[in-house]
Amino acid sequence: MNRMQDKVVLLTGIGSGMGRAAALRFAREGAKVIGCDLFDESSDETMKLARDEGLEIKSQGQVDLSDPAAAKRWVDWALSIYGHADVLYNNASTPRFGEIDELSIDDWNFTINNELNLVFYTVKAIWPYFKEHGGVVLNIGSIAGTRGVEFMSQNAHGTAKGGVISLTQQLAAEGGRYGIRAVCISPGFIVTPSTAWLVDSGPQPLLDNLARLPLGRPGRPEDIVNAALFLASEEAQWITGVNLVVDGGGTVLG
Ligand SMILES: NC(=O)c1ccc[n+]([C@@H]2O[C@H](COP(=O)([O-])OP(=O)(O)OC[C@H]3O[C@@H](n4cnc5c(N)ncnc54)[C@H](O)[C@@H]3O)[C@@H](O)[C@H]2O)c1
Repeated sequence: MNRMQDKVVLLTGIGSGMGRAAALRFAREGAKVIGCDLFDESSDETMKLARDEGLEIKSQGQVDLSDPAAAKRWVDWALSIYGHADVLYNNASTPRFGEIDELSIDDWNFTINNELNLVFYTVKAIWPYFKEHGGVVLNIGSIAGTRGVEFMSQNAHGTAKGGVISLTQQLAAEGGRYGIRAVCISPGFIVTPSTAWLVDSGPQPLLDNLARLPLGRPGRPEDIVNAALFLASEEAQWITGVNLVVDGGGTVLG
């Protein structure tokens, strides 16, 4: 407990899945969590779950981070609350899928905006503050960012997540001299509201992949949040630029 005591953590996409799990866990560990989500009912629910435990999470209400002005407003608002920030945790994303000849140009642009550009927007907004005070940028990539799969058309999604991984490396290179660390976690298959249906009725090759995972089960949000806690904490003070794959060992099988 208290591994993040009094750290101010800006966390995107707190209304669902791993973002909700991270918001609650970081708050339990003493962090002052300031969130946002596209859907204010879902971020309200996360804040309520925190209150039920005697914790407090703040959120701005409906924020669409794919709009650079909205992303900057959220970061500025978050910085104004405690006058301070330690961690920017970029969790939120929305992909669209489709085979390359069927995915529309709108869907491609939507995915790049909602999975890659939104990370650039929040980082760009907080960078001047972090340059002065130091800080941690924690991005969520994906194993889709470094590989392809034949059973699911994730061309735009994989490209965007590859961009997130690459951007993290560059942020680490640019930020080190200012005391800024930048790290990425690439989850494998994690059971969240977005993916739960695949466990029962996903394509057979995915089910086969899950069945042969070396660690024997699909991921849980807390598997990612545990890694995030470590990478965001002082214990990771000499770690930057990494892409930590948290996937139950799936990618080592090729
Ligand atoms: N679930 C998996 O198997 C898996 C695997 C690899 C990577 N990831 C990544 O992990 C992260 C969390 O995944 P999840 O499964 O918990 O997702 P999720 O869909 O359950 O939650 C994402 C949250 O982000 C919010 N959001 C999306 N776009 C937004 C925007 N433009 N502005 C503000 N909020 C926005 C959504 O409203 C939602 O509450 C994502 O970056 C995802 O790509 C997930």
